[in-house]
Amino acid sequence: MAGSLSTWVRAGLSAGLLSLTMVLAACVPGPPPEPVRFTAQGDIGLGAGAEKVLDVIAGLDPQLNLALGDLSYKAGREEEFCDMVTGKLGPEFPYQLITGNHESNGDDGDIDTFARCLPNSLPGLEGEYGKQWRVDVPEDNPAVRFIMVSPGIDFNDGEPLDYSRGSERWRWTEEAIDQARSEGIPWTVVGMHTLCFSVGEKDCDAGKAFTNMLIDKKVDLVLSAHDHLYQRSHQVELGASCPELVPDKFSEPCLSDKDGSMVQGQGTVFATIGVGGVGLYDVKNKDPEAGYFSTWSGKNRNPALGTLDVTVDAEQLTARFVPAEGYKFTDSFTIERK
Ligand SMILES: [Fe+2]
Repeated sequence: MAGSLSTWVRAGLSAGLLSLTMVLAACVPGPPPEPVRFTAQGDIGLGAGAEKVLDVIAGLDPQLNLALGDLSYKAGREEEFCDMVTGKLGPEFPYQLITGNHESNGDDGDIDTFARCLPNSLPGLEGEYGKQWRVDVPEDNPAVRFIMVSPGIDFNDGEPLDYSRGSERWRWTEEAIDQARSEGIPWTVVGMHTLCFSVGEKDCDAGKAFTNMLIDKKVDLVLSAHDHLYQRSHQVELGASCPELVPDKFSEPCLSDKDGSMVQGQGTVFATIGVGGVGLYDVKNKDPEAGYFSTWSGKNRNPALGTLDVTVDAEQLTARFVPAEGYKFTDSFTIERK
């Protein structure tokens, strides 16, 4: 009897110890993720400007590049574009594609052809490469989730993909953001070709509701191209005094942080990097939406081709604009993790 009691006690003790160990293991944080450095830009073309920007990327030696659409601007020259990229960055470099409006319907190139000659090379990527995809980098213990989408872009049937409120693609995007947060991935970056707010020529092609959803979800950084300029916003945040951002209007209460040093969770930063090589558009310094932006550059103001250069780690996101040879404009900002 005594023997069987002590067996029970011992069994109970070891079960208790085991569960205590499991609880402690769950509480002890794992190693911080390895830093990830990436570059991003769109509106590229096949000319000397594109080559200069690729030279900058090669010099920065990031782990990956996000090509934000509008690639060759010419039909039938996809291979030439891919050869230009791999000639500068090497055949194995992750030059990751999301379509622009120039290659989505085949008129000025075909995104599926580009995606064949510059295929995805990041492990664990989910979705439709070139059109709507997501990936965590590094795959194990990620520092960042990239979510690439294509609102406001016409495809082969002449219709845009459906990113309306509550649609399948809207929910896919929401889930990708929510899940990154619940999995504890430090940073969330959303990229697309189109934009909503700009001091350039383009309208809210990404959609007001979709853009406000990204702000509501406190996505850390939203990247776009489409307008051939560089612009970077302050951190913008929804709240009682800013229920939504409205195109063509500026609302001061939507700004949560106005200097270059920001804190995660207090809003979203938008950057347009439509300066990947093809050429520049004018900017309107008095555009009503200019109040949202910290800085901008275009054909008529500090013109520059170049790339955004971003590094994320467990503590912060640091970003800067790096101009191509012959240009001077720069920008830099940081977002600290709470
Ligand atoms: Fe473009």
